[in-house]
Amino acid sequence: MIYLDNAATSWPKPPEVLRAMVDFLEHHGGNPGRSGHRLSIEAGRAVYETREALAELLNVADPLRVILTFNATHALNIALLGLLRPGDRVVTTAIEHNSMMRPLRALEKDGVSVVVVPSAPDTTLDMAELARAIQPGTRLVAVSHASNVTGVLLPVAEISRLAHAAGALLLVDAAQTVGVLPLDVQALGIDLLAFSGHKGLLGPPGTGALVLGPAVDASAMKPVLRGGTGSRSESQEQPEDLPDKFESGTPNGVCLAGLGAGVRYVRQRGLARIREAEMRLASALIRGLAAIPGVTVHGPLDSAQRVAVVSFILAERSVSEVGLRLDEESGILCRVGLHCAPGTHRTLGTFPEGTVRFAPGPFTTMDDIAAALRAVERIRRQ
Ligand code: ALA
Repeated sequence: MIYLDNAATSWPKPPEVLRAMVDFLEHHGGNPGRSGHRLSIEAGRAVYETREALAELLNVADPLRVILTFNATHALNIALLGLLRPGDRVVTTAIEHNSMMRPLRALEKDGVSVVVVPSAPDTTLDMAELARAIQPGTRLVAVSHASNVTGVLLPVAEISRLAHAAGALLLVDAAQTVGVLPLDVQALGIDLLAFSGHKGLLGPPGTGALVLGPAVDASAMKPVLRGGTGSRSESQEQPEDLPDKFESGTPNGVCLAGLGAGVRYVRQRGLARIREAEMRLASALIRGLAAIPGVTVHGPLDSAQRVAVVSFILAERSVSEVGLRLDEESGILCRVGLHCAPGTHRTLGTFPEGTVRFAPGPFTTMDDIAAALRAVERIRRQ
């Protein structure tokens, strides 16, 4: 079996992640921040260590401004529903995942003005259009760091300058970049960063986070969930303290312990090294696919402009046929279709059929890439 679906969720997970989860259940399985006994304290420590590891990884000054969530969608909903009010203006792009677009479309019905900036047919962002769209009075600029369909990287530092010059905050969906390249929220000028823990960070599903930068006034944000936090229990009002304001209910301690181990693994291996290896894999994949007659590779061809998420179509074959045959004939696992990002496929001209997507990860080898290329070539011939 060759796993090329790391953009959906990474697999396999490092053994350290599995060990941390078993260890949590065996030795620290209390309810963090609730009861005062030793298992509760141990569990609280495990959760805090994950929060701290994420803050260190992303250069967040205050770990308490790392809100732990169940996935990137949850993090984006906290940011968008928490910040935006009727009459606010938000600028986004045409290549966003539904985790960004669906909350935005719902907010639009409540009177938030949503401006969608188009991308070029290869999904690179039209920066002149973006600059025109970010007018003074814009409350939020909300963009992906990288597309989950073509892997194209957006110039976040430049977008941050435009957003801040207009007095807007910048929200970045880093689901496809956290853990796969060095990411420093302060250097990039990111105000809110949403991401999942189960992709590049190699944690289990059920984990994610939202970083609130110092420019974000959390007291003006409405929480999506309200409930028990283990703090200020005398009050029936939601506490304002961070992270409790946005973290009601028993946290997913066992998975957060696994996420902490994933973050430590990624840091040990080195983000620059992970990035370099994935760029090599992506280059080989793009070169090999482009050389197969009848294959069209979508997105920018230069691997420096993208992460290792590669979409393609094969002439005269439906994407579902290609996906099924890759799995059944060659044991190659990938994702086909619209990838929950219809706007990206409209931009590419691949709507509504979608594309075949190969997404190598930190455990993919050059032999795996060669096998995937041979499998596509076989499907073309037969
Ligand atoms: N957003 C994930 C993907 O692109 C699930 O497959």
